[in-house]
Amino acid sequence: MAVLLDSASLEDAATAAELGFVSGITTNPTLMARETSQPLAHLDRLLAVFPRGPICFQPTSSAFSEILDEARAASALAPQRVVIKLPATLEAIRVATPLVGEGISCALTAVYSPAQALLAHETGCKWVIPYVDRAARQSVGGLVVVDALAAILERLQSGTRILAASLKSAPQVVDAILHGAHDVTAPLDVLLALPAHPLTESAVREFAAAKVKS
Ligand code: E4P
Repeated sequence: MAVLLDSASLEDAATAAELGFVSGITTNPTLMARETSQPLAHLDRLLAVFPRGPICFQPTSSAFSEILDEARAASALAPQRVVIKLPATLEAIRVATPLVGEGISCALTAVYSPAQALLAHETGCKWVIPYVDRAARQSVGGLVVVDALAAILERLQSGTRILAASLKSAPQVVDAILHGAHDVTAPLDVLLALPAHPLTESAVREFAAAKVKS
């Protein structure tokens, strides 16, 4: 299992790098646009601030050859670390095939159906990325989507992993794993909330008081 940070913020990336349990970063064009008007240069900065593990980058070009060029330029910054995120459309899936053939890691994102997961498997994508909370907000059932992806990938004995995204709370992270996601990505506030429990906090207060007395 891997826990990733879902953010393009350099401050978030620096904080996550110190946590010890975060092994990579996912970005998307919306998150990038909040931080920069030059996504490729910003990706290079993220790679430096978070110095290990995969960083997902989603091209913003729309034409086939331009998506390929943008993906290749991103991958060239750190070929072992950059994963190209592509929305699960016919156009993007066409791009995944040559990129994977060149040894560039790809992921299909904004995934809501097992048919899309099947194509992620078939094109050799590293990850299929369901948007759990977005699906829940549309009454599709975020965890139902994860169940369906897990079933099809299990049936295919696929090497494609489920990276659950659009996770808005610690319980949602846990539920995604319980329903078959292999990996999760979440914003920094959700990652920081993972260890929070009132009984743990009360035990820590009790231990601190005992230390003061002794
Ligand atoms: C995942 O990689 C996406 O960046 C993200 O989780 C999308 O969902 P959201 O906009 O609901 O957070």
